[in-house]
Amino acid sequence: MMRTRPLKVALLGCGVVGSEVARIMTTHAGDLAARIGAPVELAGVAVRRPDKVREGIDPALVTTDATALVKRGDLDIVVEVIGGIEPARTLITTALEHGASVVSANKALLAQDGAALHAAAEKHGRDLYYEAAVAGAIPLIRPLRESLAGDKVNRVLGIVNGTTNFILDKMDTTGAGYQEALDEATALGYAEADPTADVEGFDAAAKAAILAGIAFHTRVRLDDVHREGMTEVTAGDFASAREMGCTIKLLAICERAEDGASVTARVHPAMIPLSHPLASVRGAYNAVFVESDAAGQLMFYGPGAGGAPTASAVLGDLVAVGRNRLSGATGPGESAYAALPVSPMGEVVTRYHISLDVADKPGVLAQVATVFAEHGVSIDTVRQQGKDGEASLVVVTHRASDAALGGTVEALRKLDTVRGVASIMRVEGE
Ligand code: HSE
Repeated sequence: MMRTRPLKVALLGCGVVGSEVARIMTTHAGDLAARIGAPVELAGVAVRRPDKVREGIDPALVTTDATALVKRGDLDIVVEVIGGIEPARTLITTALEHGASVVSANKALLAQDGAALHAAAEKHGRDLYYEAAVAGAIPLIRPLRESLAGDKVNRVLGIVNGTTNFILDKMDTTGAGYQEALDEATALGYAEADPTADVEGFDAAAKAAILAGIAFHTRVRLDDVHREGMTEVTAGDFASAREMGCTIKLLAICERAEDGASVTARVHPAMIPLSHPLASVRGAYNAVFVESDAAGQLMFYGPGAGGAPTASAVLGDLVAVGRNRLSGATGPGESAYAALPVSPMGEVVTRYHISLDVADKPGVLAQVATVFAEHGVSIDTVRQQGKDGEASLVVVTHRASDAALGGTVEALRKLDTVRGVASIMRVEGE
């Protein structure tokens, strides 16, 4: 039965995502009301620039005083699409204190302060939903938190940043270098004027922290995530990857240790076999591969950014939270009961592709192989190409710990016959 009193929704931020949320709320008002069981009414929109013309939004709803808006006390749901840590954190906390449930798309804030925000939501008996915070339109939070709640997730391996996937895909398909591909991404609007958050992996690391926390029922903060950007990936790395039947992706990897006693979360570029489903994720698309005990392998794919796709995830949360409001219930909150320790990067075990520039003379290969053996790192393949007394040596290892590999590389650098370590790339997804 339809309730006639509408659910009052306030929007914090009316940029690319917020304006799409408002548009869909208006154009799909009838369907949303039928799905929730009550109409939803836009009760206020907090913006920074009030004079900007916002099509479809009643100017009387627009305010620059976000604090007063969230303190009104009659709001059912506050949608936060401002991003960043402050003032978003204070506004969300204040909204919860004043009785509203919150839908947020704020990955940085959730990755940094998720536990405190969940605690505030629980204290006030309200919901905190954030499907849009990870991989835009792709349903991930709800599948991990609800659909897979009866399973045991062991691994989440994903491309969760569209900008970097666009750049790496360009480098792969055209042979372009990093800068050339970045320039194209900027010209096409995929990369921001300051691309640091994307290309240095900060954006993906925040998403990895959120995914790992939910997947492993453990608090994982941004600081727990090992992060390496992709600015050092070269056209030569792609050539090496191709020789191995691989491509290179910036991956967010959240793993349960083999003994199940700890977890790790990391973001870095890695080679993956062309046969892996993530290798075929092109352009600015995102995809996340989940491995669990009972379900086996699952893959989630779609647009990870953009106004309408991100608004789709926000609206899904709005419907879920609206239904909870009407039934007087709250949805699932934080689940961190497992409280597994998050291990440092040194304990991560994977395979490596190492390119060395060496002197081409008798005994060099033996010397290099000895260093690997001394550090307990087993070699899978070695390929050497010599030219004018110098050679390029490519070593692919079996699985080894990051600490053991780090020690190996440090020792290799000290050998007179090793002129340089040209590149080190992890090999994942095998
Ligand atoms: N900048 C991100 C990306 C989208 O390129 O995927 C927002 O997280």
